[in-house]
Amino acid sequence: MGLTIGIDVGGTKIAAGVVDEHGAIIARTHRDTPADSVDATAAAICDAAAELIANHAVEAVGIGAAGFVSSDRSTVLFAPNLAWRDEPLGARVAKELKIPVVVENDANAAAWGEFAFGAAKDVEHMVCITVGTGIGGGVVIDGELLRGAHGVAAELGHMRVVPGGHRCGCGSRGCFEQYASGKALVREGRAQAESGSLAAVQMLSVCGITDAAELTGPMITDAAVQGDPCAVELLDDLGRWLGEGVASLATIFDPTLVVIGGGVSAAKDLIMKSAVQAFEKVLPAKANRPHAPFTLAELGNDAGLIGAADLARRPAVSR
Ligand code: BGC
Ligand code: NA
Ligand code: ZN
Repeated sequence: MGLTIGIDVGGTKIAAGVVDEHGAIIARTHRDTPADSVDATAAAICDAAAELIANHAVEAVGIGAAGFVSSDRSTVLFAPNLAWRDEPLGARVAKELKIPVVVENDANAAAWGEFAFGAAKDVEHMVCITVGTGIGGGVVIDGELLRGAHGVAAELGHMRVVPGGHRCGCGSRGCFEQYASGKALVREGRAQAESGSLAAVQMLSVCGITDAAELTGPMITDAAVQGDPCAVELLDDLGRWLGEGVASLATIFDPTLVVIGGGVSAAKDLIMKSAVQAFEKVLPAKANRPHAPFTLAELGNDAGLIGAADLARRPAVSR
């Protein structure tokens, strides 16, 4: 198969691109993500894809969606942080565009992009965590994406890390996502700011705001990059949760490599250092087993788009 389209449906932006079989993006476009409307979202996806199809000979479309995707890679069963509920996204888009469409979990797509063309191209076993609004997971074992019996394996963000902990968008309590995601970062940052401590007031001023409610994840990351102590501590905490969570995952998957991607990974060392430290500290039987190294995603924001495009040319193998 020659060219395919990859589409990454983010919380604010729908990014689409024409991708060749080497993972190179040869054309791009984007649309704003319509707020809270699944119909408008499907329409915007179709619109972006149609624009690319008009100018390139593409054979299939892959869509990365932030939710639980059915094993036939067509329906978004549930999205903890978005409005999709049993949404037949693949069928809708295929009908409109008259082209084969594959829907993938966004983090599976990003993991696949990194595995096929990025940070993990030389390994056979990887765990990829995307740290954004939510926490996404993608697991590659023996060179194949882990999909499980029903297509919804590797929902790593919903691993329980704190019994009875914070309520999650999935309905449960204590999910990994409530401690190591961008959402968690903002919750903790606002809580700090509301405490009125001198350090927190200082952080708000570095962010250029006075009201804690205005605080965002990127603001905290920027403040940390500038060396603000409160922001640095918030990211350090996030990294610790991340590393401890990955230590539990390593007991199950025994990866060669751990890849960290997603928007919050822009904080780089500010989360990676504490993540690796925490991982090394709590990994079970740590003195008696090899430790997987951590690395940052190489394809950055394009991992999901490139991965979705590549997965659109492959039949799903269930394992
Ligand atoms: C969803 C996943 C998604 C992740 C990252 C989680 O809340 O359950 O399906 O991959 O967020 O977007
Ligand atoms: Na996943
Ligand atoms: Zn959850």
